[in-house]
Amino acid sequence: MIKNHILGIDDLGKSGIEDILALSDHFYEVNTRRIPKVPALRGKTIALLFYEDSTRTRLSFETASKRLSADSLNFSIGSSSVKKGESLRDTIETISAMGVDAIVVRHGSSGVPWLLQRWTDAAVINAGDGSHEHPTQALLDCYTIRKNLGELDGKRITIVGDIKHSRVARSNVKAFLALGASVTLVGPKTLMPFNTEDWGVETTDKFDSVIGDSDVLYMLRMQLERQQKSFVPSLREYAKEYGLSDRRAQSMKPESLIMHPGPMNRGVEISSNIKEHPKSVVNNQVANGVIVRMSALYYLLGSGSVTKLEGLNDE
Ligand code: NCD
Repeated sequence: MIKNHILGIDDLGKSGIEDILALSDHFYEVNTRRIPKVPALRGKTIALLFYEDSTRTRLSFETASKRLSADSLNFSIGSSSVKKGESLRDTIETISAMGVDAIVVRHGSSGVPWLLQRWTDAAVINAGDGSHEHPTQALLDCYTIRKNLGELDGKRITIVGDIKHSRVARSNVKAFLALGASVTLVGPKTLMPFNTEDWGVETTDKFDSVIGDSDVLYMLRMQLERQQKSFVPSLREYAKEYGLSDRRAQSMKPESLIMHPGPMNRGVEISSNIKEHPKSVVNNQVANGVIVRMSALYYLLGSGSVTKLEGLNDE
């Protein structure tokens, strides 16, 4: 089982998602050890190419690489030859010529990871492309739901907010449906993509009508940097209609979760203290991000089997 790339959720399919979640149970255990570091990817080199800002995704891939004993190269756009006009293709070919085993890429344009895999022999992981996909976020969210609520099969997951600009929503919808959950998208019509009939989801612009039935409320950031014009009259009005307030959190089911991929705009999509709410698993998502990215890297570069793992014993 040697897999080449993780570009989008469709490429993984249900079995690929299940494989990575199964690997995550092993790496969860590794992360409980006094020294959470194993030799599984010793000798491998992983390049992190972030053409867009990131805190969690970048740091978690870097931490994951280190915990697997791989060497990581951090490519920082600001001090690279990109500033001198080097093209994406030349940059990738240069990095590949150094002998890297995997390239983790985030880029503001949709489709870049698919282009990039044509120019390199390295395994490519999409860490977010434009408004298109963010597969490892979907995987860590599935893992977080599974750990907290058991299987996703039969669960009702409600994704709220700026669906139109959200790569997280696109990957998560695919992954949640693949694992048997049903998905409702909530937001003003201006922030809903046009083609949601093809997505296999329900949609509504009335947040309050679905809160009590949801096993998960997944709140999205208002991605103002991607909005070329104003999609809502004011952020205050948006918060009133679609923000997760204390009052709304009180009407949630007893066994249900509040999730958010971060970074969050406190006071807009989520009221200021909701991250600390007992139902919130936001910090848990971040912790699982490291575990699931260890699995994703191992899935591409490891022993080639998800049942016979190698290099997970201490040094
Ligand atoms: C998301 C992203 O960058 O796509 N954040 C993340 O990866 N944790 C979501 C966002 O920016 O709102």
